[in-house]
Amino acid sequence: MDSYAVFGHPIDHSLSPRIHALFAEETAQQIEYTRREPPLDGLAEAIAAFRAEGAHGANITVPFKEQAWALADQRSDRAERAGAVNTLIFGESVYADNTDGEGLINDLRNNLGVGLAGKRILLIGAGGAAGGVLMPLLDENPATLVIANRTPERAQTLTRAFADAGSIEGCGLDDLSGERFEVVINATSSGLEGDVPDLPASIVGDGATAFDMLYGAEPTPFLRWAEANGAYRTRDGLGMLVEQAAGAFELWRRIRPSTAPVIETLRNDTRP
Ligand code: ATR
Repeated sequence: MDSYAVFGHPIDHSLSPRIHALFAEETAQQIEYTRREPPLDGLAEAIAAFRAEGAHGANITVPFKEQAWALADQRSDRAERAGAVNTLIFGESVYADNTDGEGLINDLRNNLGVGLAGKRILLIGAGGAAGGVLMPLLDENPATLVIANRTPERAQTLTRAFADAGSIEGCGLDDLSGERFEVVINATSSGLEGDVPDLPASIVGDGATAFDMLYGAEPTPFLRWAEANGAYRTRDGLGMLVEQAAGAFELWRRIRPSTAPVIETLRNDTRP
């Protein structure tokens, strides 16, 4: 059986094995997909050992996406630009790609009916999660893409790095006062501590779509905040997780699984 795994730290709660098992069942593919938790400084060794076992590929999650980018022999254009990768394909060499941005955009467009062309978009956060989706967001040709971060310098750095790729502005959270957007995407890790970035209500108050890359059995703190402040629609990161997995599965198996039934199954799994 062809073998794959997701590498992260921690990795216990990863839904990826379940998602890929559902894809494999749906598409009649014979694969094995497990979880691996290398030490924080041990990704390269763990990947080398996995390849030596005859494995075919890997997914990479927090905190290893940048390290995996660095250890790859070749990268897709979108991975090159993101500086982080979530998918490895093993052959003679290690090829790396990043399907996170595709996952975000497919979830918004196909599952939620929200296209991004011509829209005013706000991306909150300037870490790896934000950097990984920036190029695919710009490729959708939004009217405006603003990156706001608690530490404004990081937003400016990211803006400069992608300035050639489209119209993009970086700022601090305070600078958003009075601004309105049609789509607001939270790419910060604040929700992991039960926190919400310090944001003005105006950003969602005009009936925005609020998207959080995090997910859980309950609505995330950011989505609760967005709903209370006038968002028209909210979406957590579960659909994006399934869509990025579908992108990886297609790269490995050359067959595209249907995502909607898998998202539905996972929602039922996690429903309290
Ligand atoms: P990731 O790879 O998940 O993006 P990261 O690189 O550590 O992780 O980035 C975390 C992001 O969440 C940053 O944008 C961080 O803001 P700072 O750059 O100012 O640190 C943001 N973040 C984390 N907790 C936050 C909070 N409570 N309020 C606002 N932003 C927060």
